[in-house]
Amino acid sequence: MITLGIEGTAHTLGVGVVDSEKKVLSNVIDMYRPPEGGLHPREAANHHSDVVASVICKAAEEAGITLNDVDLISFSMGPGLGPCLRVAATAARSLSSRLGIPIMGVNHCVAHIEIGNATTGCSDPTLLYASGGNTQVIAYSDGRYRIFGETQDVGIGNMLDKLGRELGLGFYAGPTIEKLAKEGDKLLDLPYSVKGMDVAFSGIMTAALVLKKKGCRLEDIAYSIQETSFSMLTEVTERAMAHIGKDEVLLGGGVAQNQRLQEMIRVMAEDRGAEMFVPARRLCIDNGAMIAWLGNIMYNSGVRMGIEDTAIIQRFRTDEVEVTWR
Ligand code: ATP
Ligand code: FE2
Repeated sequence: MITLGIEGTAHTLGVGVVDSEKKVLSNVIDMYRPPEGGLHPREAANHHSDVVASVICKAAEEAGITLNDVDLISFSMGPGLGPCLRVAATAARSLSSRLGIPIMGVNHCVAHIEIGNATTGCSDPTLLYASGGNTQVIAYSDGRYRIFGETQDVGIGNMLDKLGRELGLGFYAGPTIEKLAKEGDKLLDLPYSVKGMDVAFSGIMTAALVLKKKGCRLEDIAYSIQETSFSMLTEVTERAMAHIGKDEVLLGGGVAQNQRLQEMIRVMAEDRGAEMFVPARRLCIDNGAMIAWLGNIMYNSGVRMGIEDTAIIQRFRTDEVEVTWR
């Protein structure tokens, strides 16, 4: 069975094609980068509608198929920015009705987990999902993926990006901050904010800007932000693993690309006799292949949707999805 998946929750419009054997046949990613400032949902959506048709064609071409070979259309139904979600949903609905094939709206966060399960060989992990808009610690329990901990304010990637903007590092600042941090060595005082299983990042952002005004080196600020915020994530991930007794940890989301975060989680996992898994970069960031793969397994487990069931859900919680395929 060939599934074509369309991702469009935030700044990325991605289209991927997978088969039922966990094979990713193509995974085309077109990311909107605002010329200046932060991400405006309407502008990102305009970008998505400009490119969606050509990205679909490119994904089919790279997969070596025609659209007539597709058996199922899957799309990201939420959570995300309304205008962006609507572009992906509209494209999916029109393809489904034009080709006369079924449609499946899927949860973006669950897609991050399942592509990790499918491609890294883990089977029952605790997921640390650290992206722009999302920061959650998720694990399967009793028919659902449950959120054990999460950010109480912004996602960690949004914090890094906003901070990067204020510090003049440009948009999508995570990789730049990672590079700068390698040159830093002085641990500056930033608020370490863990509340039970949850974390909060806005205090770090404010404090980091104060440090900048005081004339601290950018390299040391970047280093301290990473050490502080990644330690917070590692602590709550470990607590969740201990609480539910899981010995696999899976990383997902764009921030999971960060080598220092991976190192911290790896050390924590090894100390507990657990193992860390990280999907390939293009499957870790927002992408269409993960949406296609989740659509595929939901369909094969018997889930069916009509066009009338495909309204987008901006605040689509991970634990709202009934896991019918495990
Ligand atoms: P969501 O999954 O919540 O819809 P998104 O679309 O922002 O969010 P991703 O594409 O998964 O998510 O990730 C983008 C984020 O990852 C950005 O905030 C970016 O700064 C951050 N990021 C990417 N690479 C790195 C890195 N090496 N270190 C830290 N952060 C990084
Ligand atoms: Fe994501």
